[in-house]
Amino acid sequence: MNRLVLVTGCGRGLGYQVARKHLELGDRVYGLARQNSEPLKELADCYPSLSVHLCDLGNTAEVEQAMKALADSGETLDLLYNVAGLFFESDRVPLEEADLDRYLQLYNINALGCLRVMKYALPALKPGSLLLNVSSEAGSIADCRRSQEYGYCMSKAALNIASKILSNQLAGKGVRILCYHPGWMKTDMGGEGARHSPTALTPEEAARRILEVALHLEDIPEDVMFLDYRKQKLNW
Ligand SMILES: NC(=O)c1ccc[n+]([C@@H]2O[C@H](COP(=O)([O-])OP(=O)(O)OC[C@H]3O[C@@H](n4cnc5c(N)ncnc54)[C@H](OP(=O)(O)O)[C@@H]3O)[C@@H](O)[C@H]2O)c1
Repeated sequence: MNRLVLVTGCGRGLGYQVARKHLELGDRVYGLARQNSEPLKELADCYPSLSVHLCDLGNTAEVEQAMKALADSGETLDLLYNVAGLFFESDRVPLEEADLDRYLQLYNINALGCLRVMKYALPALKPGSLLLNVSSEAGSIADCRRSQEYGYCMSKAALNIASKILSNQLAGKGVRILCYHPGWMKTDMGGEGARHSPTALTPEEAARRILEVALHLEDIPEDVMFLDYRKQKLNW
């Protein structure tokens, strides 16, 4: 289809599969990755329409630099998937045991990292552009049942509010922003539990579902901004 699609975290997990699916559809992918993984190199060999730009999303100067080729090209984005994210198993503890300083890293990647990418993507947005931020049900305050994982949940709630503010800023410009829970996935982040779970999604299936949302936006009512992999609205 020759859409221009930006995908963060495209070196592995969900981001890799989202990039792969768009390349298979004939789209051009502007991939952001912290490092060039073997699968990513193989993908780039198969698809010249994939360009990989390395950056740590926690570093503003690196993100700006990685976005420079897009800015210089003057091209506009059809889709931006903020997929990259961070989770620490060690976050699964009550507050007494929590390492609060490490939470700064979660906030820096999961919330500010996505915001950095969106900031430098602004000049490339046009009416019809979609920003799809991979959040989590963990970021829902209304439905929160957890009594641990402070850092991860707080970082995803922060991503949600950043998305909402940006959608207000861009009101009337024809740009849509979604916060999306991809489900529990058989990825590194999903961990051993997901790998052995009959209900956890493979990253391929999770990518199929996220594309189903992104490419059929007409199915998502205008008042829905936070939703999950079953296209169900989530509560903020
Ligand atoms: N897995 C789940 O069950 C689950 C559930 C709900 C929501 N999510 C969300 O879904 C998204 C994708 O998750 P996943 O399971 O695919 O994760 P994953 O397999 O752990 O992959 C994480 C990706 O984020 C990238 N990343 C991490 N820190 C980065 C940094 N500082 N700079 C640049 N890239 C960085 C990683 O790059 P490197 O390879 O360089 O580390 C990797 O590509 C995340 O936003 C996650 O929070 C996941």
